Amino acid sequence: MLRYEGLPSTTPIAEGNTIFDEEAISEFYDRDLITDVIGQLKAGKEAQVFVCRAHPKTGYDLLAAKLYRPREQRGFRSEAPYLEGRGSLRCGRARDSSVTRAIDRRSRAGKTLLSETWVRREYDVLHRLKREGVQVPAPVACTEHAVLMQYLGDEHAPAPRLLAQSLTAGEAAAFRAALLEDVERCLRAGLIHGDLSPYNVLVFQGAPWIIDLPQAVDAAVHPDGRSLLRRDVTNLTRHFARHGIPDDGADYADALWEQYERGRI
Ligand SMILES: Nc1ncnc2c1ncn2[C@@H]1O[C@H](COP(=O)(O)OP(=O)(O)O)[C@@H](O)[C@H]1O
Ligand SMILES: [Mg+2]
Repeated sequence: MLRYEGLPSTTPIAEGNTIFDEEAISEFYDRDLITDVIGQLKAGKEAQVFVCRAHPKTGYDLLAAKLYRPREQRGFRSEAPYLEGRGSLRCGRARDSSVTRAIDRRSRAGKTLLSETWVRREYDVLHRLKREGVQVPAPVACTEHAVLMQYLGDEHAPAPRLLAQSLTAGEAAAFRAALLEDVERCLRAGLIHGDLSPYNVLVFQGAPWIIDLPQAVDAAVHPDGRSLLRRDVTNLTRHFARHGIPDDGADYADALWEQYERGRI
């Protein structure tokens, strides 16, 4: 049995959710990766995130378990643009044409595979970006329904979103520069986040961290790479314009894309 101690500033785990949540997380418990679930963060669009006490063998004190909602209960973010052109998906089965057909039919099996694909995708992308030096939570493990990763925050509270953070002028300039460098590193890893915004950046240990990556697309094959990159970059630069930094995001993104296309990134 998992024990819920509660964590200040997290939502108590709702009664009705308990069984589903426990089943989805218990594999982490059985594999000696976590010892307790201590709180639930405010639910996002697609997922529930739980704060877990880490098993000492992981080398962490706390970990975040991100559980994907069953597909029907997710927000409105359309999957279609993200699923196109994902040539380098590592989840081997996703290349199997029968699996593709199952997903296309939106059959029952297809739905399960699709949620599994999103979990695998986020786990895989976290690995690829971490290797490239992008400031993302370190991936620890994944199951069919959940990704276990480094928790950004402490015993008292999770790291705040960039959106909610007041910044000094110096911090704003440094954060913007760090994030644009990370966007370039993503591209170096062949990836575009695809849903980057001040909602998906957390401020932890004095730096911006990028989260929420299942929809990341492969820059080399996705037909809308240029416009997805432009949207990601301008979502950030528009935010920093509030802090008095001129918004040159569209030009910046176009220049970056050109470099990428010429093989200079
Ligand atoms: N590794 C993490 N550490 C701390 N908080 C996290 C972590 N990952 C996600 N969160 C919190 O959970 C929320 C939802 O997670 P996110 O990955 O953005 O999924 P969604 O698709 O639901 O938006 C985030 O806005 C953030 O507050
Ligand atoms: Mg999010």
